[in-house]
Amino acid sequence: MRKLLILSLFFAVLFVKAQNQLEIPPIIDDVNINLNLQNSTHQFFSGQATATMGANGSILGPTLVLHKNTNVNIQVTNNLGQPTTLHWHGMHISAQNDGGPHTVIDPGTTWNPQFTVMNNASTMWYHPHLDTYTDEHVSKGIAGMIIIKDDQEAALDLPRTYGVDDIPLVVQTKDFDANNQIVFHSNNDDTLMVNATIDPVVDLPAQVVRLRLLNGSTQRVFRFGFDNNRNFYQIATDGGLRETPLLINRLQLASGERSEILVDLSGLEGQTIYLKSYASEFPNGIYGGTSPGMNASMPLDNYNPNPLNGSDFTVLTINVGAQTANPVTSIPSTLTTITPYLEANADATRNFTLQSAQGGFQQLNGDFVINGVSLDMNTINVTVPLNNTEIWTISNNSAISHPFHIHDIQFLILDVDGNPPPATAQGWKDTFLIPSGGGSVRVITKFEDFADTTVPYMYHCHMLNHEDGGMMGQFVVVDTNASLSGENIENGLELYPNPTNKVYMTAKLLDTSDKINAYAIINELGQIIQYHKIHINEVNNMYSFPVFELASGKYHLKVYTDKKILTKRFIKE
Ligand code: C2O
Ligand code: CU
Ligand code: CU
Repeated sequence: MRKLLILSLFFAVLFVKAQNQLEIPPIIDDVNINLNLQNSTHQFFSGQATATMGANGSILGPTLVLHKNTNVNIQVTNNLGQPTTLHWHGMHISAQNDGGPHTVIDPGTTWNPQFTVMNNASTMWYHPHLDTYTDEHVSKGIAGMIIIKDDQEAALDLPRTYGVDDIPLVVQTKDFDANNQIVFHSNNDDTLMVNATIDPVVDLPAQVVRLRLLNGSTQRVFRFGFDNNRNFYQIATDGGLRETPLLINRLQLASGERSEILVDLSGLEGQTIYLKSYASEFPNGIYGGTSPGMNASMPLDNYNPNPLNGSDFTVLTINVGAQTANPVTSIPSTLTTITPYLEANADATRNFTLQSAQGGFQQLNGDFVINGVSLDMNTINVTVPLNNTEIWTISNNSAISHPFHIHDIQFLILDVDGNPPPATAQGWKDTFLIPSGGGSVRVITKFEDFADTTVPYMYHCHMLNHEDGGMMGQFVVVDTNASLSGENIENGLELYPNPTNKVYMTAKLLDTSDKINAYAIINELGQIIQYHKIHINEVNNMYSFPVFELASGKYHLKVYTDKKILTKRFIKE
């Protein structure tokens, strides 16, 4: 608890409120990105410095600008002296590149994800995701924003000058101890910061400005709005642009969620306005509200009195200055088209029930389980066939609302407790707060492009201490194409003879400059039944592998080459 800070803020208000200029994270707009994860210190307060972790700096990390349909090559070097991972939250990428808890970056090593950016223009983010250490690494400071750009967004008349009329806002609360050190797995998160700036103030021009809001907090939910109930427009949800701007005066974001908003500051030059969180308006069951239990007689254990809980507080002070040279002064009427997945086309429906492991109704800090189980890194909880359209129903039988997040995909919300989703959640989402006390949310999505039988994707609660406590499950997307006919799934790999009744079968890459480094044989259930790393001096664009021990049936051969991974079906007679 920062009693001293609160006291000094109190006195500061009596005299001159000393505020801090909002930090704007540096930007990396390049296909080659280097991120150096490091230990550092940061001067949050006068007196003792705070031990922190950051990417390329003392805290947080640079904003990465990625362009749709381009290939990026990222070098993540771990100088933390302990293992971690780095996850690209919201992005549609292969499980190996996703940076989940299985893709550990050992201390002193560099991880090199390379992928094609497939998402539409949007605001994503990156953060560590090591099993049981996510809150520690994020709370100590590692998190950064990702801005994805595409041609469609570029054609709209929207503010997009970074740091001028297009402002990243990483909103977090943290707990500091009496020695100014960050405490994680804590409910005393009473220090608010934006872009790691406490009590921030920013100068913005008197025109339409775009704010990219990210809730990067461990647990706290924000209910954003401006003083005087000023209206603003939501233009993007987690996964990108809405169909049309939505006129609102409140916007709720739980941990992990993002939104882009436009606020029209035209004619306000010289005035000061406040971005606030109206936490007094939260219903029961939301972390950040007055009493987040089911009702007043069932308070949640350890929901400590915290000056932010249930109060309306300022997030960012905005001083409105002069217009820029080419200001955006109007709000576009349309943004994009969203083609929904149709419920009638769903291939499967799955149910996920969130509840306290103890079965009680007063737990705040968990442990919580999903479908009765905690995360087991060696158990795949769900196997999704590639190209499946699925409805996931998430039900919450606990007293606290949990932000449920799914990797790999963006979903659309079908309904919340049987009603249409709130207007601010009508768009692409990857994280959504599941109402407490029996709330139920149905989402629809499609699992496309990436199949991997070994590396799972995760689904989990994005309250980081719940996630660390095991409120997470694993799913794999598998290519179980039923009619194994022998033709190529991907071009570039030849297999002969196919079908075969011989001892060996030969795999040949059509690209003679490429090399086969390893192969796997996968059965019809999508299980890897053989994996073989090819000895270095055997490496070639051709390789003959033994098939005489295989039972007759249909298989996939997967080859790992210097350049890519190719899969082809074959039949053993
Ligand atoms: Cu933002 Cu699996 O996390
Ligand atoms: Cu994620
Ligand atoms: Cu939770």
